[in-house]
Amino acid sequence: MSLSRRAFVQSLGIGSAGALSTAWIIGGGREALTWTPDPFEAVLQASTQQGVIRISSNENARGPGKAALDAMRKVITGDVGRYGREVANTELPAAIANRVGRGLTSENILTSTGSAGILEAGVRAYVSESKPLVNAAPSYENPTEIAGLLGAEVRRVPVDANLKLDLDGMAEAAKGAGLVFLCNPNNPTATAHSQSAVSAFIQRVKSDSPDTAILVDEAYIDYATDTTVGTAAAETLKYDDVFVARTFSKAYGMAGLRMGYATGRPTTLAKLSAAWGLGDLNILTATGAIASLNEPDHMVAEREENRRVRDFTINAFKEMGYEASDSQTNFVFVNVRQPAAEFRDAARDQGVLVGRDFPPLEQTHARISLGTMEEMQQAVEVFKRILET
Ligand SMILES: Cc1ncc(COP(=O)(O)O)c(C=O)c1O
Repeated sequence: MSLSRRAFVQSLGIGSAGALSTAWIIGGGREALTWTPDPFEAVLQASTQQGVIRISSNENARGPGKAALDAMRKVITGDVGRYGREVANTELPAAIANRVGRGLTSENILTSTGSAGILEAGVRAYVSESKPLVNAAPSYENPTEIAGLLGAEVRRVPVDANLKLDLDGMAEAAKGAGLVFLCNPNNPTATAHSQSAVSAFIQRVKSDSPDTAILVDEAYIDYATDTTVGTAAAETLKYDDVFVARTFSKAYGMAGLRMGYATGRPTTLAKLSAAWGLGDLNILTATGAIASLNEPDHMVAEREENRRVRDFTINAFKEMGYEASDSQTNFVFVNVRQPAAEFRDAARDQGVLVGRDFPPLEQTHARISLGTMEEMQQAVEVFKRILET
């Protein structure tokens, strides 16, 4: 299938770029909004047009597990007319604390309508004109953009040769900073650090620069298959102003339902909720999240299926002579040895939507989210046509 940008946009019933509405753009999801330099891409990502393979926003092509779907269906035919505060504000934090373990109780959980709210709250609570943000380059840009809105300095620390976060460099940069954003596993490079390395990093920063806050974003950690990788949730109980952000948008397959949370000491969480409105979770989302947490076997199966698709995709690139980083996530970051924009446009013309530019690696690397096995088999055929000609 050949699908030019113009044909694609026309097929969506939009005559020109000027006709793009905010609703269309918002429909592309937070990832698209944060990262997309081109409104057309958000439109493309919003599309569910048949035949288009959408592997651009690190979504979960399989969606939630059966227990979550069943529980949510029951709510739709039952209690959806109720506010559901008990479910969202009491049962859900308890279920999260119980699943994460590591000494957490409900009072160490702060829920949010998507983890992006936690990131926004974190930057607003700890970063200012006199308190810089530390972020890796490349890493998730959302905190950097919020720091920009606040007029704050951002100290960017390049990833190392293996595309892993430079923890030593980030610890140095943290001295005197307001907040360190540590994305583990890192989006977009897909690499992860061990639980012990992250604990040592936190200890070092809190000893060298006690007033610096640390946000460990674990959006993709459920996909990590390296057994040394694990949550830093226990560290968030040890220190003030150290918190973890987690989301149900990725491995739990609930991106459209908007559910995220932070773990930390109650005093830290109080600062976050004072800094930014985190929204009220709805009863459907809260019920689906609780059911997911109570179905741990599904998460094991989801992780395994993602690993199978990931191995297939990375091996396919390897056979073509292209290297990907060590992915611990549901996306791969591949050295395509050409500008990401060229690769992306060529893939888009053949009905496959891949990720945006990720400076400073946008001249060489493309981020490709993992869809279903069937989607990736089709996408790989497209990548072969692009890379082998
Ligand atoms: C690293 C990272 N953190 C946070 C988010 C925000 O996710 P959500 O608001 O859907 O929980 C994303 C979304 O893609 C992400 O990649």
